[in-house]
Amino acid sequence: MNKLIAPSMLAADFGNLQRDIEMVNNSDADWFHIDVMDGHFVPNISYGMPVIQAIKKHATKPLDVHLMIEKPERYIEEFANIGADIITVHYESTVHLHRTLTQIEDAGCKAGVVLNLTTPVSVLEDILPKCYMVLIMSINPGFGGQKFEQITYQKVKKLRKMITEQGLDTLIEIDGGVTNKNAKDLIDAGADVLVSGSYIFKSENPTSTISDLKSICN
Ligand code: DX5
Ligand code: ZN
Repeated sequence: MNKLIAPSMLAADFGNLQRDIEMVNNSDADWFHIDVMDGHFVPNISYGMPVIQAIKKHATKPLDVHLMIEKPERYIEEFANIGADIITVHYESTVHLHRTLTQIEDAGCKAGVVLNLTTPVSVLEDILPKCYMVLIMSINPGFGGQKFEQITYQKVKKLRKMITEQGLDTLIEIDGGVTNKNAKDLIDAGADVLVSGSYIFKSENPTSTISDLKSICN
């Protein structure tokens, strides 16, 4: 399968948001990764509906919305209505995960689950057939620019094995500290989608950084 790159808009220049959206539109990137933080589930607050609407207005690629908020079930329909294509919720943030995933599907979006660094992939064994995607955090969520944690590799391998054993085509996405240094190893371990924020947007030429990542992975 074609491996996907999802630039994290958290690292974009919000004073030049349209410019950065067009850069992603015109690059080899596949999705826009949109980080929503509430200051409760994670210690940071990022942005909400108006900014996502502004991104949607200009984006020509799918919006991959990563909800780092408590009780995400309160906002699913709203995120769907403003243009989310994929919505991922943290396993740790919602009590009735099955119900929340159904809510995302009913709202017309693809549903995914995110695991914090220390949440084992085994908790997903029974719910896996309902997951379009599983996002494995490779940092503690809340901030861009953090160091990639090595524990990620073993989790990706275990999850890949579970997906194969169940005969599924669930995607594995990785988020946090992704660069040209770890991209190939992540793909070899079984990842399908790589999120990357600061590595792309702080580089001299984000468009060619995206192309490099894409060619390392494919
Ligand atoms: C952090 C977010 C990430 C973040 C990644 O909680 O989920 O998507 O933007 O940024 P980098 O690639 O800089 O680690
Ligand atoms: Zn994210």
